[in-house]
Order: sequence, then C-alpha cells, then structure tokens
Amino acid sequence: MSTHNLVLTHGIDEPLPVTRGRLFDFPDDPIACMKKLQARHGNIAALEDEGQRIYFAFGPHFNHQILSDGTTYHSQFFAIRGSRKSPQRNLSSGLLSMNGEQHKRQRRLVMDAFLKKAILNYVPTIRKLTEEMLSEWKPGTERDINRDMTDLMLRMTSTILFGIDDADMAYRIGHMIDHWVHMNHELGMGAFVANQDIANRYGELLEYAGLLQTEIKAMIGQRKSNPNGSDALSLMISAHDSEGSISDEELIGQAALMFGAAHLTTAHTLAWTLFLLAEHPSVMSELHQELKTNLSGGFPSIEQVERLPCTERVIKESMRILPASSYSQRMTAVPTQLGPFALAPGAGIVFSQFMTHHMPELYPNPEEFRPERWLTINPSPYEYLPFGAGPRMCIGAPLAMLILKTVLPTILQQFKVTAIPMSEVSGKVISTMLCPTTEMIMRLDAQDGRFESQPVRGNIHEMVDLREVRTVRKAA
Ligand code: HEM
Repeated sequence: MSTHNLVLTHGIDEPLPVTRGRLFDFPDDPIACMKKLQARHGNIAALEDEGQRIYFAFGPHFNHQILSDGTTYHSQFFAIRGSRKSPQRNLSSGLLSMNGEQHKRQRRLVMDAFLKKAILNYVPTIRKLTEEMLSEWKPGTERDINRDMTDLMLRMTSTILFGIDDADMAYRIGHMIDHWVHMNHELGMGAFVANQDIANRYGELLEYAGLLQTEIKAMIGQRKSNPNGSDALSLMISAHDSEGSISDEELIGQAALMFGAAHLTTAHTLAWTLFLLAEHPSVMSELHQELKTNLSGGFPSIEQVERLPCTERVIKESMRILPASSYSQRMTAVPTQLGPFALAPGAGIVFSQFMTHHMPELYPNPEEFRPERWLTINPSPYEYLPFGAGPRMCIGAPLAMLILKTVLPTILQQFKVTAIPMSEVSGKVISTMLCPTTEMIMRLDAQDGRFESQPVRGNIHEMVDLREVRTVRKAA
C-alpha cells in the first residue's frame, strides 16, 4: 500500500490523524490497511483519497460510541441498491439496510424465529446433515475442511431458514443467494475504482436479482399455502404486531439477508476452529478429554452441550482471534463528533472486531490461541464482539452457537483432524468476512486422542502466533 501522511490542521495546531492513499487499499486487504492506520495514528484515523474519506474507529470506547447509537450511526450494508421497487432493491432491503423505527419493528418481528424455543426445532436438521456429512468422511483420507464446512452450512442454513419440509428447493435458493451476495461483493468494489468490466456486469447483477426474486417469491407463496411450517421463513410469515405482518417485499429482503449473514460466517468459524485445534495439540487434548468424559460418541443433546466448558472456551477464543465477521461499517445520519473529526451526514465509518480482539491491553499476547485465558477474563460487550453489539447485535447468535457447540463435538469424537505439513493456510477479509483464501486440506483419522501439530505456510502467521505450538502425544 503506497500511502503517506497528510497532516491537516484542525483547531489551532492539532494535526488530524489522516493518511492519504488509495481508498481501494482498504477492500484490497482490510486487515493490513487497518493495522497500518492504527500503527500510524492510534485508534481513530481516516484514509483520504482525492477529498473522499473512510473513517476508522478501533477499540471499546469507539465501538460503544458507534454501536450503541443507532440514531447517529446508520447501517447501510449493500453498496448497490437498484431503483425503487426493483428486485435488487427488495433483495438488499433486509435488517442490515434498515434504520430507526423500521429497523426496530422488523427486528422484533423476525426475532421470534431465532429465540431459544424456535431454534430447538432445528436440532434434528443440524444432526441429520452433520451425520450425513460424516458418513462421507473416511479415516486415512485428506479433505478440504473449509469446503466441507461451507457445503454443510449451505445445506443447513437453507433448510433451517427456508424449508425443513422441502430441502431441495431451499438448497437451490440458498445457492442462488450465495451467488447473488458474491456478485454484490465483486461489483460493490466498483464503488472504489473506475473499472469498465465491473460496470458492464452491473446489468448481469440486476438480471440475476430478478431471477432470484422470482424464486424467493414462489417459495414464500408455497410457505403461505402451508401455514404450519417450522422453518424460520414460515415463522416470519406468521409473525405480526398491531401494525400487521411483514410484507412480501420485506420478506424477500429478510430472507436474502438471513441467508447471507448466516451461511459463510458459521462455516468459516467451524473451519478456523478445526484448524486452530489441529495446530494446538494440548488444547485439543483437553477438549478430547472433556468430550470423552461427558458425551457418548454421537451427536450431543442440548443438556449435554450446556455442560462443556472447555468446548465453550475454545469457540470463544477461536471467534476472538479469527472473528468470521472482522469489521463492519456505519454511515452518519446527522452531524456528529467522532474523536477529533467533525463528521457531516453521510460519512462512512469502519469499526472492527478483528482490531479490537487483537488489542494487547485487552488480551495479553493477542496473537496466541489460548482458550484458558477465558478462565480469568470477562470482557465487556464492546471489548469482545464477534456477533456485534448494541441494538443491531446478531439475531442469529444463539443459533450459530447451537450449531458450533453440537457440530464440533460430533466431528471431533469421531475424527482426528491434522494439518498437512507445509500446506498453505491463508485468509483475507472479503466483504467483511474473514475467509480462508486457500484450500484447508486436513488429514482425517479415526479419533485416537494422540495429537500432533504440523508446520504450515501462509499469511495465517500474521494473524495467529503458531510458534508456540506444542506437540503433545497423549494416550487415549
Ligand atoms: C458464527 C456465525 C455468525 C457471526 C460471526 C455473525 C456476526 C454478526 C455480526 C458481527 C453482526 C452485526 C453487524 C453489524 O453490526 O453491522 C450480525 C448481524 C446479523 N446477523 Fe449474524 N452472525 C453469525 C450468524 C448468523 C446467523 C446464523 C444468522 C441467522 C439468521 C444471522 C443473522 C444476522 C442478522 C439478521 C443480522 C442483522 C441484525 C440487525 O441489523 O439488527 N447471523 N451478525
């Protein structure tokens, strides 16, 4: 990134923490860009390119200021909205594009589908799909774990959200939403650069949005004709308050957002956690003992998962060090002061889970994967925020935790996962999500309780300190 300091003055003689560079440096490599800005300026900074700025605010103080105040700081997730009433506009109008009273009301209405009572209905689906996946796994083989987790979550999310009774249709629509989200990401980048190829593909996106909307509308129609469904969409259709229920146009946006928000975040969390465990034999060993002592070899019951403290610490630590949602953004709705910056309405601000979770003052030796740190720390909601914080904190967090706490123990009771020596493991934040960018090939063996880490290459070493990895061989 070729940037240099631009020292502007504000007030009498205070320099503003502004770096002049290419705005595209940010989406190009968000973590590298944020680290450089923080190293140069501290926890509040701006990146400026020909008069345009992106503001960056790191750490609990700014997280609190930004995330607790939905009136000043609005969410506007999708860059390309399409014209009014167009399929693109409908599809991009889920919760993360709503603000104020509209957001509050819709959130209340869709929330019912993600409360504890509702998510318990999803357990048989989680179990069936996990067991189906594991029936394909064979000891002594190598598999791309990230691909398997992504496929598992594509099936699981689409079935839970759209159709416990019509999994094929749900799966097809899930696939289409995935593709549409991907196109939005690629073309959304066009907002940062002048690129003719990207501009030409805008029409393709709008056309695809039309196809996707037709499919989702048909699915909504089908769910309405069978009012007793227990999938999340059916619950959203039947939700109502004194003002009525969620309109079909709103359901289209909510369905697309739910799927986009749920699928890859959970898949990547599963894959990163398996990798971290494979590279930390002593942690894996402790976890293995816990699963062996408390479970009976198969899919755990809800009562059992509530009594797995080591599993809980492992998941918390994995989501701290490699948070699937690594940053997000807000836009000012009214003039406001953020640190030294007097912001006009429409200013874009980035806050970051990754940067907060890697602050040494909050988490000593932040690059070390040490689940045992959770025995002694109790961070505030603005210090630890893998699911966000404040009035738009993730509504799917209980469902995601249920999936993580059942799928990981089910896999690890049956299989031992080991990294392939000198394989590359790299990741990058793509469209706010920290995604593995290389295949994550792992060797599978029948679980025998003997664990050994392997040296790997790749930029994983910039995010996680694997030098301390200990090799522990422990008899089962
Ligand atoms: C490990 C998995 C997940 C992670 C890490 C995650 C993370 C997040 C984060 C950080 C936010 C806040 C974004 C912001 O403030 O800008 C969020 C919001 C949201 N998430 Fe999740 N999420 C996960 C799973 C899910 C699941 C399973 C669903 C299920 C439907 C879901 C649905 C949503 C929705 C609808 C919002 C928007 C809430 C609002 O604006 O009021 N997420 N998620």
